[in-house]
Amino acid sequence: MTWTVCSQLGRVSWLAKAKVSRPTAPGPFERRRFAAPSAPRPPDGLRVCEEFVSLREEQILLDEVEPSFRKMKYQFDHWDDAIHGYREIEREKWSAEAASLLHRVCETAFGTGSEVSPLIHILDLDAHGYIKPHVDSIKFCGNTIAGLSLLSTCVMRFVHEGTAEQMDTLLKRRSLYIMRDKVRYMFTHEILKNEESYYEGKHIPRSRRIAIIFRNFPEEKT
Ligand code: OGA
Ligand code: MN
Repeated sequence: MTWTVCSQLGRVSWLAKAKVSRPTAPGPFERRRFAAPSAPRPPDGLRVCEEFVSLREEQILLDEVEPSFRKMKYQFDHWDDAIHGYREIEREKWSAEAASLLHRVCETAFGTGSEVSPLIHILDLDAHGYIKPHVDSIKFCGNTIAGLSLLSTCVMRFVHEGTAEQMDTLLKRRSLYIMRDKVRYMFTHEILKNEESYYEGKHIPRSRRIAIIFRNFPEEKT
């Protein structure tokens, strides 16, 4: 038997379209040269819950998604892609055990009654992979994006699109991050490559990382 997490009506292929809206020009890199040093406080609207899943729960999720990746190759060749060194799937059906874990994520990140996309995005980033600065599509994704980080700790960087204010956040393995409102719309986010993966002066080694990412739908305009 399979279970659907946060089942809601309607499916949208937000992913392919979200990619289109990720900026491909190196604008944020330029701006960052003049950025203020990383501020100690996290940006408004960002919440990180450490140890959101246990080692055993992480394994349950990995066992479930790994078979889908087995025959897929990591994508490295698209130099202008927002993501480098990755493979990805969207998944709707889960075992009961995984579904109850993912339901816990939805309750924490979105509360009850929010329209969460039933198509959950699973992004497998190679040890040499990274995500360039981007803002997820405002047309296809709503005000909240939540991600479970599995297998590797990493540094997520936020850069304010107007002021170039820059803030780094440590996403520990098995943590859940929730970005909402201001940080979701006004800052680009990115995952640093291994060579640049520093937090408070300390190198944070990057190994293969799997993120399970949840997004709600944008509110309908009336
Ligand atoms: C994305 C993204 C972050 C992550 O796929 O748009 O920003 O946690 N992913 O992997
Ligand atoms: Mn994103």
